[in-house]
Amino acid sequence: MENTQVQALLEEMTIEEKIGQLGQLSADFFPNGQATITGPMQAQHMDLDTLYRSGSVLGISGAKQVRAIQADFLAHNRLHIPLLFMADVVHGYKTIFPIPLGMAASFDPEIVKNASAVAASESAAGGIHVTFAPMVDLVRDPRWGRVMESTGEDTYLNTVLAAASVQGFQGEDPLDEEHIAACVKHFAAYGAPEAGREYNTVDISEWRFREQYLPSYAAAIKAQALLVMTSFNTLFGVPATANQHLMRDILREELDFSGVLISDWDAIGELINHGVAGDLDHASDLALKAGVDIDMMSFAYSRYLKRAATLDAETKRLIDESVLRILELKNTLGLFEDPYRNISIERETATELSPAHLVDAQHAAEESIVLLKNAGQILPLQPGTSVFLTGPLSESNDLLGSWSWQGKSTPDNTIAAALGQRCEVKSVPDVGYHALNEKQLKVALGGAHHYDTVIACLGIPSSESGEATSMTDIRLPEEQMTLLRALAADGKRIISIVIAGRPLDLSEVDAVSDAVVFGWFPGSRGAEAIARILTGEVEPSGRLPMSFPRSVGQVPIYYNQYNTGRPLTHTPNDAENKYLSKYIDEENTPLYPFGYGLGYAQVTLQSLTIENTEMSSQKPMVAHVRLENSSNRDGRAVVQLYLHQKIGETVRPVKRLIAFEKVAVGAGETADLLFSVTEDSLRYMHTDLTNTADAGEYELLAGLSSDATQAVGFTFTNGLKEKSDD
Ligand code: GLC
Repeated sequence: MENTQVQALLEEMTIEEKIGQLGQLSADFFPNGQATITGPMQAQHMDLDTLYRSGSVLGISGAKQVRAIQADFLAHNRLHIPLLFMADVVHGYKTIFPIPLGMAASFDPEIVKNASAVAASESAAGGIHVTFAPMVDLVRDPRWGRVMESTGEDTYLNTVLAAASVQGFQGEDPLDEEHIAACVKHFAAYGAPEAGREYNTVDISEWRFREQYLPSYAAAIKAQALLVMTSFNTLFGVPATANQHLMRDILREELDFSGVLISDWDAIGELINHGVAGDLDHASDLALKAGVDIDMMSFAYSRYLKRAATLDAETKRLIDESVLRILELKNTLGLFEDPYRNISIERETATELSPAHLVDAQHAAEESIVLLKNAGQILPLQPGTSVFLTGPLSESNDLLGSWSWQGKSTPDNTIAAALGQRCEVKSVPDVGYHALNEKQLKVALGGAHHYDTVIACLGIPSSESGEATSMTDIRLPEEQMTLLRALAADGKRIISIVIAGRPLDLSEVDAVSDAVVFGWFPGSRGAEAIARILTGEVEPSGRLPMSFPRSVGQVPIYYNQYNTGRPLTHTPNDAENKYLSKYIDEENTPLYPFGYGLGYAQVTLQSLTIENTEMSSQKPMVAHVRLENSSNRDGRAVVQLYLHQKIGETVRPVKRLIAFEKVAVGAGETADLLFSVTEDSLRYMHTDLTNTADAGEYELLAGLSSDATQAVGFTFTNGLKEKSDD
């Protein structure tokens, strides 16, 4: 449909029909609609006139179901304006990939892009038009359960993966029938709730927001994300869903976002709880003025129906503005030409857990799993080894993780089954996540007694990950630690496999285990991926996208911290000098830092050299990195390039990631990488909120982990003059 026709359709609509377009309902309001509910439900009577004027539906999919609801709806909608079907297709639809935090550990944008493309293809066949993904909230607090849905603590990594995910979901412009619209969320800074408590207050400076949190949303919007979702939290003292500065000035103006802005579930209604709206009418006006186009499940916008006859011109104009964006989205998706354009029962059946998709999901898991410890090279296991497995994850297929909705697993997707294809496996699975009685412990120890090496399959259930799962204690449950301690006390060599959706405090696990493998929630073929890593069929290449603390008391903890006025000197003086930025009962460093992960091969970073010690806007910095694999097996590495600015107008992180590249290094070989550093990499947020680069002295740091880098100095000659030169 031409844009002029969309405009004409808007003009043909009654005010009641326009108000209806602004509402999104869960599918159970519709005949034969079985919805997946992802928020607090309120009893709502919905008369049929209102129902058949709705704009969109969430929480249902399936070619048959969607076709039936759409057909029934169009038969009752005067202007035959089709419904948009939206849902949380986050890390797969039927074929589930590792959770996003796990895929971030792959440090491979192509892995993320392909996962989104596969999810789009499968879900489009099932009638989905829009996915509520990617979630690009920067996170630094593993107490918050939704870190699993993010890509971690680093701004640069988040921007790269946010863009990759949007490109995967949406494909090329125009969207074809195997792609779906991406809705980037949650705008904004939902990942910084105080104390890691879900839905809690977010209060960060605009300076920090713009420097660290905003870039990932901006990258998704630059990648043409068609929708944005508001976040539940406050920001700069105002709930995001009513925040005109955030939504009008920053999102619409600065980021030039002209797509659809949808509230999160009941976020408009919750403006009352926040204490900025007196009632739903007031909340509606605040959200409409902020530019929120769709009201997800608060029924606030539908209250405009009661005032339809007396709405002032400005409110009507705002309603028209929002309805037009919704109609334009439906037009972009081709729904006016064919409301069933992407639905395909045949393709839905053919793609469900298709061999090709399972291969992709397994590959993504293999690239995401992180080897955290491997004392004495106890891993890889030799094929045929007799191993003893125990722990709640040994025969569980709870490997899909939160936000896996319609996800399916092949029945053999358990660690015991997958490893049993390669080794002599004895498994004693009768240990709960939170339950271990004397008998179970005795049976497990009795079974282990005859084995030198034990594989403890530990972790957190997916029900304790994702939304509304904030935790104050991020250690493994005590019952699992009791089992692990008993196995260690029995002199066993222990390989601990940990399945979870957040960084845990693994200090004691690390202390008693010879090897530690972190699997995230690895998806529909996660067990096979774990088995292939354990036996060395695949080289471990995952690297941490989020710091793992020694203790929850260190949180928030992240690598790109500021130096403070009393930094550690990393000399013996640190122990004596009390007046330093440190704890008296814990180290400052994490147990495992950002960017860290081991391999079986011995790949080291041999050198970092730069072609010119002076760079300018016209003359980028060219850096050479040489790797060496001194072992007799092919290796992998994630080369990380960091930047430190010695003097800034605002404080500068001790280092921040500006580039990375994942490479293979053959047995006994070297690999040379080139990086080009431009002025853009030097830009940062100044106190006047401009994002510019200063002339001055910098360091370039290269490493295979954020805590092990080689540095070289250089000068940037043009940009803002250093203050000291004034
Ligand atoms: C939930 C989540 C959001 C999700 C939405 C719809 O409350 O906050 O991420 O997309 O509701 O399910």
